[in-house]
Amino acid sequence: MVSRIIPVEAFDIVVIGGTGDLARRKILPALFKRHCAGQMLDDSRLIGAARRDLDTEGYREYVRDALREFAGELALNEAAVQAFCAHVHYVSIDARGEKGWEDLADLTTQDRVRSFYFSVGPGLFSDIAQRLQSYGMTNEDSRIVVEKPFGRDLETARDLNAQLARYFDESQIYRIDHYLGKETVQNLMAVRFGNMLFEPLWNAQYIDHIQITVAESVGVEGRGEYYEKAGAMRDMMQNHLMQLLCLIAMEPPAKFDPDAVRDEKLKVIRALDSVQPHHIVRGQYTASDGATSYREDVGNERSKTESFVALRCHLNNWRWAGTPFYLRTGKRLSHRDSEITVVFKDTPHSIFGPEAGRHRNELTIQLQPNEGITLGVTIKEPGPGGMRLIDVPLDMSFAEALGPEANTPDAYERLIMDVIRGNQTLFMRNDEVEAAWAWTDPIIRGWEARGDVPKPYDAFSAGPDDAMLMMRRDERDWKGLDK
Ligand code: BG6
Repeated sequence: MVSRIIPVEAFDIVVIGGTGDLARRKILPALFKRHCAGQMLDDSRLIGAARRDLDTEGYREYVRDALREFAGELALNEAAVQAFCAHVHYVSIDARGEKGWEDLADLTTQDRVRSFYFSVGPGLFSDIAQRLQSYGMTNEDSRIVVEKPFGRDLETARDLNAQLARYFDESQIYRIDHYLGKETVQNLMAVRFGNMLFEPLWNAQYIDHIQITVAESVGVEGRGEYYEKAGAMRDMMQNHLMQLLCLIAMEPPAKFDPDAVRDEKLKVIRALDSVQPHHIVRGQYTASDGATSYREDVGNERSKTESFVALRCHLNNWRWAGTPFYLRTGKRLSHRDSEITVVFKDTPHSIFGPEAGRHRNELTIQLQPNEGITLGVTIKEPGPGGMRLIDVPLDMSFAEALGPEANTPDAYERLIMDVIRGNQTLFMRNDEVEAAWAWTDPIIRGWEARGDVPKPYDAFSAGPDDAMLMMRRDERDWKGLDK
């Protein structure tokens, strides 16, 4: 399958925090790959800006290093790396002082799309936004890109939104949730709204419940300081799982246009009921199978931060009233597995009698790894001896169906090019982020008020037993992880 590359005009992208971890792991490799795909015209520029005292040559060396480590096989092509580095420039700046801003302004004078990627902590957003403006670097074609964590509660998110709104119009602000850049996540919309098959059944009348699991086998990986203050609820549930929930539950937008899509997602978040305490399980991993415990990993023997959370929630609207959504995410689980399972209801009546058995249709959308879709269909067990029903999967692995050359760009490649094209569809709007915090805040406040201690679970297991019990009480089972 040949992938289609949509050309973009020459652009400048300034990566503020250009020597940080995110730039090294994600942003630089993503731009390099888009360059290799022919999307960075000759005079497009990547300008790194950070405190580190480097010159352009020094930064190019830094970029080469980052590519060798994080850009995979493409980075073995020396000529391609050289060609990419010719686009790279560097300015040393002080985000809170005046150093370097004049030089950066001198570099960014051309009349073209200028994007400023704030690859720094939210504490610096306002200082940087103000300087971009006072040094005359912004015009109506300028965009800024900000990363999560976008606040740590509703109040701080509102405050950040207000700070940015002082300098930029909402149409210029791109809040990244990298899950929205994943090919398979976008496929959720294609599957739902590109097929006649599913949509008529996509409601409480036919669907028993929906599960979303985002499981990781990694631990906190050197990010203990950040994670201790965040926990799974802020790190994953408030953003990534919330976005998946929106895409699976939203009404069809009238068109695939940024505000039409985001309006529908917002309605989902606003329809969320508050979560009952007995419908949430928090967990924290303990040492097992050669892995250290969460508490050792973050260096806090008394930590009450959750590395796992599972919950049941409801949407108060016509489509979904009465259908539970079960969401779970955690670190140091048995394996990396992100999937959504839509479990349909029983047929209203079994004509085959109780001996035949009865099965529910399940639609599983595997997000990562091994992206694909499986529909469980009930058929007759082959052979004589009466009618016995069994489940067989109608399986579609995307890799098999589309071939190994199918273009599955990394989420950051897709999202950065969308910024440059000016397409906000896959970015979170201010009201969406605030609505997600408005739902999350009471849950976290409840834990704090009760002094809640997460339930321990063995590293590389399926999470705390209480998460299983929560499902069993509802006479259901988690799919995926512990299958
Ligand atoms: C990030 C979280 O947003 O997403 C990390 O901060 C998490 O804790 C990561 O590991 C998971 O992303 P992915 O793309 O590996 O599923």
